[in-house]
Amino acid sequence: MILGLCGSPRAKTTEYALREALRMLEERGFETVYWGVRGKRIGFCTHCDHCLKGEGCIQRDDVQDLYPLLEEAEGLVIATPVYNGAVSAQVKAVMDRTRALLAKDPAALRGKTGMAIAVGGDRSGGQELAIQQIITYYTLNGVLTVSGGAFGANIGAAFWSKDTLEGVMEDDEGLRSLRKTVRRFAEHVEERRKLREDG
Ligand SMILES: Cc1cc2nc3c(=O)[nH]c(=O)nc-3n(C[C@H](O)[C@H](O)[C@H](O)COP(=O)(O)O)c2cc1C
Repeated sequence: MILGLCGSPRAKTTEYALREALRMLEERGFETVYWGVRGKRIGFCTHCDHCLKGEGCIQRDDVQDLYPLLEEAEGLVIATPVYNGAVSAQVKAVMDRTRALLAKDPAALRGKTGMAIAVGGDRSGGQELAIQQIITYYTLNGVLTVSGGAFGANIGAAFWSKDTLEGVMEDDEGLRSLRKTVRRFAEHVEERRKLREDG
């Protein structure tokens, strides 16, 4: 299963880009699950260290539903709107809250495939830094990151929305970066699956 995590509080441009990615993956035969922060109760990590006892997070909010999905997924697609040149606060909160999952099992995310999508209102609004933050999170936790490669998707999928749904839908370069990244992501998940099957 591929887990798509949407970090926007709105059902707009980031959700559109992520759903496009999941649709492309479904076309390739993958099962996908969408989990978005919109309307969810998501507390900040308070560094209470309860999770270090290995009993999960003490906060009984909507992030509890995400933990099993993260564990089950073969691949992660994290999509964020660009806020102040970075990931949204919601994405950051979710990343921080996965400390509870990783405290229980440091290998919980290890070896999964990861890709990132960033949607900014401006052409150079910080998409690359937002993607880089997601890549850093992946690196920290043993997720193997793929991009779409040179000539259009160097570190992942980046969109210029002009703050509108039409903007993101008409962003041909953004869609190209998404297609390229999804292709490599799909190939990587399949390669990893084959390696597991071959023992
Ligand atoms: C608090 C806030 C900060 C933002 N900061 C940036 C920014 O630094 N760079 C940028 O390109 N767009 C910025 N935007 C615009 C959004 O990234 C853009 O409208 C995006 O398409 C919104 O995604 P959504 O439609 O999924 O909510 C910001 C929007 C908000 C609400």
